[in-house]
Amino acid sequence: MSQTNKAFSDARPLDQEIAVSVRGVSKNYGSVVALKDMTLEFPRGQLTSLLGPSGCGKTTLLKIIAGLLKPDSGEIIVNGKPVVGPGPNRSFVFQDFALLPWANVMRNVAFGLELRGVAKSEREAKAAKYIKDVGLGGFEKAYPHELSGGMRQRVGLARALAVDSRVLLLDEPFSAVDEQTRRKFQEDLLALVANENKTFIFVTHSIEEAVYVSDQIAILLPRPSRVSEIIRPTSFRSKGVENIRRDPEYLDIVDEIWASLRSYVE
Ligand SMILES: Nc1ncnc2c1ncn2[C@@H]1O[C@H](COP(=O)(O)OP(=O)(O)OP(=O)(O)O)[C@@H](O)[C@H]1O
Ligand SMILES: [Mg+2]
Repeated sequence: MSQTNKAFSDARPLDQEIAVSVRGVSKNYGSVVALKDMTLEFPRGQLTSLLGPSGCGKTTLLKIIAGLLKPDSGEIIVNGKPVVGPGPNRSFVFQDFALLPWANVMRNVAFGLELRGVAKSEREAKAAKYIKDVGLGGFEKAYPHELSGGMRQRVGLARALAVDSRVLLLDEPFSAVDEQTRRKFQEDLLALVANENKTFIFVTHSIEEAVYVSDQIAILLPRPSRVSEIIRPTSFRSKGVENIRRDPEYLDIVDEIWASLRSYVE
């Protein structure tokens, strides 16, 4: 794929400061090699997508960056310091929602702040803002089992946003929503990228979504998991999702990525 690199690179120099570095990280689960000597950098204030087939270690990598899982070897550096465990500078939106089933939406969204000892009135005011921002205003008192999958994902997103971490780890945050809601979420996400100067590490299965929302795309290949390619697409954000579908440059990039992943999709 390297010979066609020009087709999907705007040759923009990587001049951003690095917020998160993954350095030679390996992780095995028993005999399963989930990550092998992975090295990857995430520029500050940008959105990097991790794109790769199921089982290639994306969730494992996010958990290691979050400090929820220890690598067998290698290290993660966040803002110049090695990760030794979870910390307030990173928050995680889990693939499987990970909401507290006994707590309502308000408490779930405020939970990260509660853990940090933020006073109830302050954390509820903050939580209320993000509940509205993700489109769940009016559902503050609902419990997770009363929500659809997409709504639960939004609760997870609001919770991650409420703690105001500098690094957001998003594990397929839009996978449970319909296409229309997904587009709305993509626009919301891009507004956050533009306005919040946070570093976003975003797992998605959708090549189209990755090309649309990302500053940088890391293509991961499985068995053992490795970074096959880093792509920095021309920004399609300003064109809007409706307009890029027929954009030849956009279609070229999507095709090229699809070609490199095709043989690994089971
Ligand atoms: N707790 C675990 N115990 C044993 N094996 C695991 C565990 N978690 C993940 N694995 C294995 O490690 C590999 C990577 O899994 P991981 O969940 O990181 O993949 P993924 O890229 O997030 O996949 P998906 O796109 O399906 O979410 C897989 O082969 C998986 O079976
Ligand atoms: Mg996963």
